[in-house]
Amino acid sequence: MSRASSSGESTRQEHGVRPEWKGKLLRMTSIRDLLGIELPIIQAPMAGVQGSALAVAVSEAGGLGSLPCAMLSLDAMRAELDAIIAGTARPFNVNFFCHSVPVPDLERESAWRNALRPYYDELGIDVSSVPPVAARASFSHETADVLSDSKPSVVSFHFGLPPDDLLQRVRSWGTKILASATTVDEARWLEARGVDAIIAQGLEAGGHRGIFLSEDLTTQVGTFALVPQIVRAVRVPVVAAGGIAAAAGVAAAMALGAAGAQIGTAYLLCPEATTSAVHRTALAGDAARHTALTNVFTGRPARAIVNRLMREIGPISGIAPQFPLAIAAILPLRASAEAQGTGDFSPLWAGQNASGCKEIPAAELTRELVDTVT
Ligand SMILES: Cc1cc2nc3c(=O)[nH]c(=O)nc-3n(C[C@H](O)[C@H](O)[C@H](O)COP(=O)(O)O)c2cc1C
Repeated sequence: MSRASSSGESTRQEHGVRPEWKGKLLRMTSIRDLLGIELPIIQAPMAGVQGSALAVAVSEAGGLGSLPCAMLSLDAMRAELDAIIAGTARPFNVNFFCHSVPVPDLERESAWRNALRPYYDELGIDVSSVPPVAARASFSHETADVLSDSKPSVVSFHFGLPPDDLLQRVRSWGTKILASATTVDEARWLEARGVDAIIAQGLEAGGHRGIFLSEDLTTQVGTFALVPQIVRAVRVPVVAAGGIAAAAGVAAAMALGAAGAQIGTAYLLCPEATTSAVHRTALAGDAARHTALTNVFTGRPARAIVNRLMREIGPISGIAPQFPLAIAAILPLRASAEAQGTGDFSPLWAGQNASGCKEIPAAELTRELVDTVT
């Protein structure tokens, strides 16, 4: 066989990739190439504690900055997108929740308010002033209308995916789709629906668990058990999330097959984050070493630093209304306690490893996170 024909043969093989090689080759398409970024770091979208400033800083540093939209009105989202586009020409991620909106259950709602009544009395809050609902937006066509002006290069989803027609609409812009999986089954489900990369969210992660195929928390496993199992189960790139706080953790996740890391908690003390004063104090102290999964703040399991409300009526409560209905009754308690300087009723979201939290600019932290990786 001539040299030319043997090289032609190998070219043909690359184009008609054997099925058993496909996963490996796809994963070799690094997350950097896939998302157009320099560093294999995604700043985790964190609703309620950050906006465009953190996203811009991380994207400008070469990672992928993220804008969480779950708590933004459509107007606020438009303004934040404009601020990012004015602040960086680099890729960024826009993040949404995809929960199904529950029907309010009046009996559960009143049981919940009764359980909280002693706290309203203690803080002198008039129960009739408690708002009936506090919204957490689920991705919708109205959201997509706003997004269609900027057509961001990356969109990520938490709690599953939006309905197919909505997903196709986002994909039609050429946008890469990322989504969180907390189990191998969820990762396979996401891959079957065509996501471009999977965020493997281990049990250590701060904030809401992305769990969506089940409500059984015993299915949830730690990052370093989850990542290699998902890497084996799917062909698309896998990004590790949960408990990663420094360059050694990023390198370890990549040694297990991750294409990169999504990091949240470590960014919470950066000046660009909007983390509240009580949250910052908790993160910077010994309290941050004790976190737990709790549903008392929103109705959905999420990891937070253990505080008074979690200790006294949780951390998991059987009467907390379904996500996001539980939020409304907590809001006045939180506001009143925070005004007195305590985080007793605040969701102090944090992962199990707050040791990487530093009061340094997000760009500096992003570069530190890849010190030993690149
Ligand atoms: C304060 C906070 C808020 C979060 N909010 C969101 C969110 O809005 N959307 C989302 O997809 N993930 C959210 N997460 C989860 C992150 O995407 C990610 O899984 C987690 O931060 C990784 O673990 P780590 O915090 O230990 O780094 C949040 C995490 C934290 C700490």
